[in-house]
Amino acid sequence: MSRYVIDDRSTPRFRVHRSTMVDPEVFAQEQAKIFESAWVYVGHESEVPARNDYRTRTVAGRPVILVRDQKEQVRVFLNSCPHRGTLLCRSDAGNERFLKCFYHSWTFDTSGRLRAIPDDESYGPDFDREHLGLATPPRLDSYRGFVFVSFAAEGPDLRSYLGRARHHLDVICDQALDGLEVLDGSHRYSMRANWKLLVENSFDGYHAISTHQRYVEMMKAGGKEFRGAGIGESWGQDLGGGHGLIQGRGPAFGRPLDAAAQAEHDEVVARVREVHGDRTDEIFYGGRNLVIFPNLVVIDLVSALIVRTMQPVAPDFTEITSWELVPRNEAAHLRTARLDNFLTFWGPGGLATPDDVEALESCQRGFAGHRELPWSDISRGMRRDLPGSADEVQMRGFWRRWNQLLTGEEPLPEPHRQPTAFASNVG
Ligand code: FES
Ligand code: FE
Repeated sequence: MSRYVIDDRSTPRFRVHRSTMVDPEVFAQEQAKIFESAWVYVGHESEVPARNDYRTRTVAGRPVILVRDQKEQVRVFLNSCPHRGTLLCRSDAGNERFLKCFYHSWTFDTSGRLRAIPDDESYGPDFDREHLGLATPPRLDSYRGFVFVSFAAEGPDLRSYLGRARHHLDVICDQALDGLEVLDGSHRYSMRANWKLLVENSFDGYHAISTHQRYVEMMKAGGKEFRGAGIGESWGQDLGGGHGLIQGRGPAFGRPLDAAAQAEHDEVVARVREVHGDRTDEIFYGGRNLVIFPNLVVIDLVSALIVRTMQPVAPDFTEITSWELVPRNEAAHLRTARLDNFLTFWGPGGLATPDDVEALESCQRGFAGHRELPWSDISRGMRRDLPGSADEVQMRGFWRRWNQLLTGEEPLPEPHRQPTAFASNVG
């Protein structure tokens, strides 16, 4: 038993200590033991389509530059001048053949080499320009256009790291005949709450009906029906490695589709089934939210594909960015429906996000009393032998991995059989 997690098989009960959400020491350990060992998402290759295109991001607390160099290779650099530290790129995006530091004008090409220094004879003949190029994270790799870096020189390669989550990324990517691209523009917002609260919320089917009651009532008033428990009915999976997902059952939640979009949705589902076989456990039930440990979420409603990251800034402050991922060359009306969904459901002022942020900030305020009320409970479904709607198994998977990295303790497996499909007696 660690200080942070109690995985008790006798009850059975799973509890997480609330210091994990408020303690600056835990926050510092997370940076060192999680964000510096994991593969962390930077961006999508389609965001830098042309030579010398760049984007700036914050990844694992560091400012970085995602860039496509003159030979079309995608690279990631630390966004810090090797001279005396200035942010080299200060815009969100741009296209520059040379990146020139505004402080003293050292100038680099997009493959990171130092190309010019003003008055460079003042440095003498032994000054080593070759080793004053831009710094890179120790490892960079991409999977199906998703670019990740690792600040650890050693560890599993990206494919191994993604493990079973890789298959779900494949299913998402195979929806598009001509590939996927990220649209220009993003939603950016922040919350006064710990980053892990939004990880939990991103694959929490349990909260949907109660937190988003306003949305459900609005849909019902508009004549939309929800089968069973409606948007609260979801099946969670622990994919190992801290990754997990929920799949919704019944109609895709988010904004309802019109007839044309629904027909397209059905076509996409049929196409993915063709590629991946009729493994209905892993094909669509109406939507899926995939969490890739530690802080990437890919939301897949077919009618809207969203990539979201949560960047921890402080124990009680998180910056969130979402991008819309779209099939290249799709019909204009589908693109319109997708953008409507992205804005009016998932946007910072949409139907879902403000409710979630309110709930999570409320949790954070509640954690102020963590000395008197130290444990949160994440036990839903531990007693079931078969999958139940809105179980919390996927969150337990995340926390077991989190706890393993922080404390070195080997995690116990989930006590009951992990099902591979919705069973007929979903509870
Ligand atoms: Fe960049 Fe001096 S800090 S050139
Ligand atoms: Fe929500």
